Amino acid sequence: MVVSGREAFRFPSAFPSPFLEPLMSQIPAVSREWHLVRRPQGWPVAEDFALREVPVSAEPGEGRILVRNLHMSVDPYMRGRMNDTKSYIPPFQLDEPMQGGAVGEVVASNAEGFEVGDHVLHMLGWREYAELDAKHATKVDGSLAPLSAYLGVLGMPGLTAYAGLFEVASFKEGDSVFVSGAAGAVGSLVGQFAKIKGASRVIGSAGSDEKVTLLTEKYGFDAAFNYKNGPVAQQLKEAAPDGIDVYFDNVGGDHLEAAISEMNPHGRATLCGAIAGYNETEPAPGPRNLTLVIGKRLRLQGILVGDHAALQSQFVKDVAGWLASGELRYDETVVEGVENATDAFLGMLRGENTGKMIVTFTR
Ligand SMILES: NC(=O)c1ccc[n+]([C@@H]2O[C@H](COP(=O)([O-])OP(=O)(O)OC[C@H]3O[C@@H](n4cnc5c(N)ncnc54)[C@H](OP(=O)(O)O)[C@@H]3O)[C@@H](O)[C@H]2O)c1
Repeated sequence: MVVSGREAFRFPSAFPSPFLEPLMSQIPAVSREWHLVRRPQGWPVAEDFALREVPVSAEPGEGRILVRNLHMSVDPYMRGRMNDTKSYIPPFQLDEPMQGGAVGEVVASNAEGFEVGDHVLHMLGWREYAELDAKHATKVDGSLAPLSAYLGVLGMPGLTAYAGLFEVASFKEGDSVFVSGAAGAVGSLVGQFAKIKGASRVIGSAGSDEKVTLLTEKYGFDAAFNYKNGPVAQQLKEAAPDGIDVYFDNVGGDHLEAAISEMNPHGRATLCGAIAGYNETEPAPGPRNLTLVIGKRLRLQGILVGDHAALQSQFVKDVAGWLASGELRYDETVVEGVENATDAFLGMLRGENTGKMIVTFTR
């Protein structure tokens, strides 16, 4: 077993080891993790969560590793996991640590192929230290990209954008594309992927004038609007005078209804998320214009990113190339400190992020 830190050094108690103190204290006796303690009704509030101290075992069992988390992801789908409802992914359990994407450094390993100092991507976020079966960890290379990028542009949101646009929506050169949630982790990539691959027009919607400026000036969208400035239907009509062929839906509600109205015959929509309704206590009514789907022969198809693992290597190859050439830009909004993770999560739901919302651990 290879261990760094406290358990690696067992000196006779009389041995003076002042120089080794920092190493020995690398793995603390306790670490902090966020538990869901009550199921939110509508918008989550602080009382739904608790940051608790738990013991850290510096000696992982056979085939397991101990990881000091460096960055964790807060994602919209986590709101669904706070409800006790049947879904494609099980709900968070009360009084248990929440889960989610995280990148960290291996600090103790009892697993072949994993060394202390390796960086790994895994699903035990929301905690400072994670002990897990190494088969649920993927090694990532911090010299190829900043480690946090594996939670965003090179990670799950990036693959969602890639698979949702190219596979699910069957995007083709010359298509006109509309994406909602366009300044977020997934949306900002969808619009840029479409431009890179020859979209005739890319339109985005977002929730502030600053984000709208970012879309057109930094990400190269052809048009963008602030959905809070007026009805989506009217603003989309003006932004897409020739209609749209592809709609990438991150929002649902009035966005989806407006997109159906503006879609050209044989248009395709990827239904990726419906964040406008995630904190509603009653299900939102469906689009009132759904019958247009028939006459226009539209295809509306859901996506679960987990179904598209086969695209992973092509996705990384393409995206790494576009990042290297400067064709693709990305942003992160970083909140520091595990103690601020629930605030980061709520802030993301409120739209306080531009690009991927990341929590970076400071100790
Ligand atoms: N199906 C899948 O496999 C899959 C995978 C990943 C993500 N998703 C979905 O994709 C969508 C985007 O995820 P993400 O990780 O990229 O999040 P994100 O866009 O980075 O962050 C969420 C954004 O949603 C926007 N928003 C919040 N309330 C809204 C409302 N009422 N109307 C319109 N926009 C609202 C906010 O931006 P504004 O300031 O613009 O309001 C906020 O920044 C989510 O719906 C998520 O559930 C699905």
